[in-house]
Amino acid sequence: MLESNDTQEREPAVAGAGSRSALESNDDVARRYTPVPGVRRVKQAMVKNEANRTAVTWGTADSTRLSSAQLDGVHTVVSSLLYAESHGNDVCSNLICHVPYADISDAFAVQVLDESHHAWMLTRYLKQELRRPIIRRPLVPWLIVEQLKLIHDPLLCALSASFFIECAAAEVQAEIIRKVDEPLLVEIFRTISRDESRHIALGREVVAFLLDDPAQRRGWRRIRNRVFRDFLRLSAERTFHHYAPLAKLFGIDVPRALRHTMERLDGAVGL
Ligand SMILES: [Fe+2]
Ligand SMILES: [Fe+2]
Repeated sequence: MLESNDTQEREPAVAGAGSRSALESNDDVARRYTPVPGVRRVKQAMVKNEANRTAVTWGTADSTRLSSAQLDGVHTVVSSLLYAESHGNDVCSNLICHVPYADISDAFAVQVLDESHHAWMLTRYLKQELRRPIIRRPLVPWLIVEQLKLIHDPLLCALSASFFIECAAAEVQAEIIRKVDEPLLVEIFRTISRDESRHIALGREVVAFLLDDPAQRRGWRRIRNRVFRDFLRLSAERTFHHYAPLAKLFGIDVPRALRHTMERLDGAVGL
């Protein structure tokens, strides 16, 4: 797999106008194998990471460092993030089927492997380390994600996966690493965060490439994209708001995390 990707790396880069002219040809195969160099670079890093992944040191959780209220908070937040990983997996799977470029669908296929690994680690942490059950997701965040899973448009799907689920989860994880005094949980989230930074880079490249299509920047598509960006803003605000009481337990700065997520979203969809 790596050999084949290394071969792809040596191909001449074609982007921008070349990509758009292939799209306009209406030839599915010509369009599918249009190189997307920025995405391909991130995909290479993700594939190498999958091949070289090392395990965290299981059996080292030390919950005595947490108060009982904090332990309950960790239980709730980790359960919620476990659902976010699983939903991220579903949205990426939609992209694999519906995005018309092989570089992009391949990269999201690798992301599915990452998200499964994250969900598996969080499940093991809850069940084997904390010996607690997984708490079901609250209704409103669940409903929001169920709607996002119905979307098949590649650009809207990429925005959902990368600038709602990824950015918001990455902000919460970064705060947990800084504020929660439990070594195994911090090690798990450090591992996950390194993957998430590649996923955010992938989303940035994909959205930039898809928005490079002039059709996305005029007429009803431009309006639709702006409305969807605003919908994601509201969804992120609602999701962060839900966890505000838990964040207080650890001194997590929710307004900062929300602001950072919004800035990334606005920067990606400059319409
Ligand atoms: Fe993840
Ligand atoms: Fe991710």
